[in-house]
Amino acid sequence: MRIRRNTYQKVCHQIASTIKKLVNDSEFSVLGLATGSTPIGIYEQLRKMDVDFKKTLTYNLDEYVGLDKSHPQSYKYFMNEHLFKHKEFHSNNFPDEKLCPYYDSMIDNSDGIDIQILGIGTNGHIAFNEPGTPRDSVTRIVDLTENTIKDNSRFFNSIDEVPTQARTMGIETIMKSKEIYLVAQGKHKKEILEKAMYGDITPEIPASFLQEHQNLKVYYSD
Ligand code: F6R
Repeated sequence: MRIRRNTYQKVCHQIASTIKKLVNDSEFSVLGLATGSTPIGIYEQLRKMDVDFKKTLTYNLDEYVGLDKSHPQSYKYFMNEHLFKHKEFHSNNFPDEKLCPYYDSMIDNSDGIDIQILGIGTNGHIAFNEPGTPRDSVTRIVDLTENTIKDNSRFFNSIDEVPTQARTMGIETIMKSKEIYLVAQGKHKKEILEKAMYGDITPEIPASFLQEHQNLKVYYSD
């Protein structure tokens, strides 16, 4: 497994260009999208590119429980701000209360995710699959760990406002993606990224399951 090192700017440009090529070359395309600070640069690049997403479906990895789409910290709000209000898509899906039970079959019926973008948590989570998540997990409701609540509290006025549950794609859902781009940005992510990519494959580090994916690209920038 090779970890590709480059500046954040270049990583984002490379991934955005790959997405552009997929979308332009396909009759119909399906993207799996992440929120958080990591993919912001990718969306910034996509906004500037000449790409028509009208035949592109998106599936976001996760969404908090209990935050309405008008809440600035909801992932729907985030995606609107960074991408969806700037570019018109065929449809944008989230594992919310309504779609969560059907999410995996919806993705299957769309013929699977062509490109999945992933960040990694400092505890090795991917999406909201926290340590201890089994390999065969699918989209479901989960409790967030203290570590994740603490990490995410920087976006809220106080830690008490951070939701304690989320709905998330499972490891199995993510592993079915045809191509995965895992991005870790910042020195605080270096150790966990190396553990996840070079250490044992274990539910204690959910990102370590990605080692078994046939089409994974991993990027690190300081
Ligand atoms: C977001 C998500 C999370 C983040 C991870 C890293 O949709 O699924 O797993 O990718 O927590 O977050 P950032 O990028 O903010 O460091």
